[in-house]
Amino acid sequence: MARTERLKQDEFARRRRQLMRIMGKDCIAIVPGAPVRHRNSDVEYPYRQDSDFFYLSGFGEPESVAVLVPGRPHGEYILFVRDRDPLRETWDGRRAGPAGVVERFGADDAFPITDIDEILPGLMENREKVYYAMGTHPEFDQRVVGWLNALRTQARHGKHPPQEMIALDHVLHDMRLYKSRGELQMMRTAAEIAAAAHVRAMRHTRPGGTEYGIVAELLHEFRRHNADTSYEPIVGGGANSCILHYRENDQPLVDGDLLLVDAGCEVGCYASDITRTWPVNGRFSPAQREIYDIVLDAQLAAIAQVYPGNHWNAPHDAAVEVVTRGLVRAGLLKGKVPALIKDGAYRKFFMHRTGHWLGMDVHDVGDYKVGDEWRVLEPGMVMTVEPGIYIPAGMKGVPKRYANIGIRIEDDVAVTRDGCEVLTHGVPKAADEIEALMAAASVA
Ligand code: GLY
Ligand code: MN
Ligand code: MN
Repeated sequence: MARTERLKQDEFARRRRQLMRIMGKDCIAIVPGAPVRHRNSDVEYPYRQDSDFFYLSGFGEPESVAVLVPGRPHGEYILFVRDRDPLRETWDGRRAGPAGVVERFGADDAFPITDIDEILPGLMENREKVYYAMGTHPEFDQRVVGWLNALRTQARHGKHPPQEMIALDHVLHDMRLYKSRGELQMMRTAAEIAAAAHVRAMRHTRPGGTEYGIVAELLHEFRRHNADTSYEPIVGGGANSCILHYRENDQPLVDGDLLLVDAGCEVGCYASDITRTWPVNGRFSPAQREIYDIVLDAQLAAIAQVYPGNHWNAPHDAAVEVVTRGLVRAGLLKGKVPALIKDGAYRKFFMHRTGHWLGMDVHDVGDYKVGDEWRVLEPGMVMTVEPGIYIPAGMKGVPKRYANIGIRIEDDVAVTRDGCEVLTHGVPKAADEIEALMAAASVA
């Protein structure tokens, strides 16, 4: 596995060209990078570039702004970035600087970020429309409004301010929904590393271990491949497996309980998102296995619905049907399957959707509906498929053997030309395979 994967500069240039084609000549697009966020006093959260900014620039430094000015004679792609500064670079790390981003990141023109107030209004002047994602970075919104207002007050001196503001995110997010060959390769890598992390976590699970010990195994596998988490791992044993976004990860692992692990990583700003559920002691109890197999059947039925031409909701419909049938068979729901589906009776045990788009963000951008209709799946779209059943102790009318069984099985699935590709196939999900893997680990 090569672990220094990056998209080629050509790909970022192609995206900028595509966006400029969509915008047309009399427009300007302004795309700020993510702000630095403080954890406390002068300690910062790890910096993660804004996905839209990175999608267009491939540039990871903070305090950056990308500007696209189609048809501008001195260059259409302008970056504002931190200036070089030997003292600051000694303390905080290297900076590309304006010359560096022209040389290495394909900018036609670049300026120190400290000059943006002087330069940007001039770039906006005489452009009819501004493409900008209002509301994403509120502090930056104020500055854009300030530049626009300044141009308006100068209108009587013959300056021509832009007349229209267009939601850049809408255009860009539709582009981001379709993953290129290069992006799919990045996502395969993120999926492969996360799958290896889950296998490692399975091998290290035993009664007397801890949820945070499992977090450590996941992070070990991510970091040794130079990947970051794409969200905080969810590692819930027993009753905690029934909390969808369980965060504490601080409890001991108990013999006879299930362990639900939802953890994915990020490679070059592309995410994976995997959930597996396995028995702490390496053997599913009959009741655990019964529920497990319903979720697995639902997940396989949902994946079978991922193909071009089908609609976004078809995998969810398939999962709901299998889960409802299974719950009736187990005696946990009573009634006729079609009526139980229609009434949403399954939601007592399966209360989330079957998936979401996946890409640079773990809950990726892109509309799920076009008008009133579910979106039709097309090659290059990537989604998660993650049905679950959750039975916390104390549910009325539920036999004790099912108490605290929380199961979710989640894979990352790309729509291909003739069906789909499961990117996260590297981690087993059949109950027998999981038991075999864990049995082999405990002998070793
Ligand atoms: N890890 C969040 C999710 O599965 O959607
Ligand atoms: Mn997910
Ligand atoms: Mn997940």
